[in-house]
Amino acid sequence: MSKTDHKSKSNGAVKNNNAASSKSNTATGRSKKTAISKAAAGSKAGDSRLQEFFHDEIKDIYWAEKKLIQTLPKMAKAATSEELRTAFNEHLNQTKEHVTRLEQVFELLGHKPQAKKCDAMEGITEEGASIIEETEQGTHTRDAALILAGHKAEHYEIATYGGLAQIAHTLGHQDIAKILETTLQEEIVTDETLTQLAESTVNEEASGE
Ligand SMILES: [Fe+2]
Ligand SMILES: [Fe+2]
Repeated sequence: MSKTDHKSKSNGAVKNNNAASSKSNTATGRSKKTAISKAAAGSKAGDSRLQEFFHDEIKDIYWAEKKLIQTLPKMAKAATSEELRTAFNEHLNQTKEHVTRLEQVFELLGHKPQAKKCDAMEGITEEGASIIEETEQGTHTRDAALILAGHKAEHYEIATYGGLAQIAHTLGHQDIAKILETTLQEEIVTDETLTQLAESTVNEEASGE
């Protein structure tokens, strides 16, 4: 594809997506979503490289979120303190919502939900599993280590959602950007909750073990 071809196709996609955005004030209206999906689906052949990259990265974070749905219950079960167990369980419920939101994003893009293996999250969750194996059950050191593993997962998500929301704005997908930013805020709050737990009790208790 020549540079000129790419540019004209890209502009076409953005124009189409802007038209789709203006039809929707909310991501939750069923009939509006269907209208947007059809509009977006019609622009698939003209997707720009950035649009294709964006779609690919949505598949990646979709896989990562699904992986976390399997991992968070294990982290909650392994936790020593009730507070940390509650934090992981609450974030599990949010994570299920993150998956649902990504399915809305796929629909807005005019694609079926599809997961693509995220090597980064695979590594982060493997490290989390090692932490559980290598620390003693019932200790605060176990919790300090679980919190660190949690921070690593959350920071990966914060980086991903922040970057993807920026690209969504650039592509003219304001409705998608809003969905991604809602999840981003929940990841940030979760990361802060973990920090508070570590600073208020867990690390101090662990240092005495
Ligand atoms: Fe998430
Ligand atoms: Fe998260």
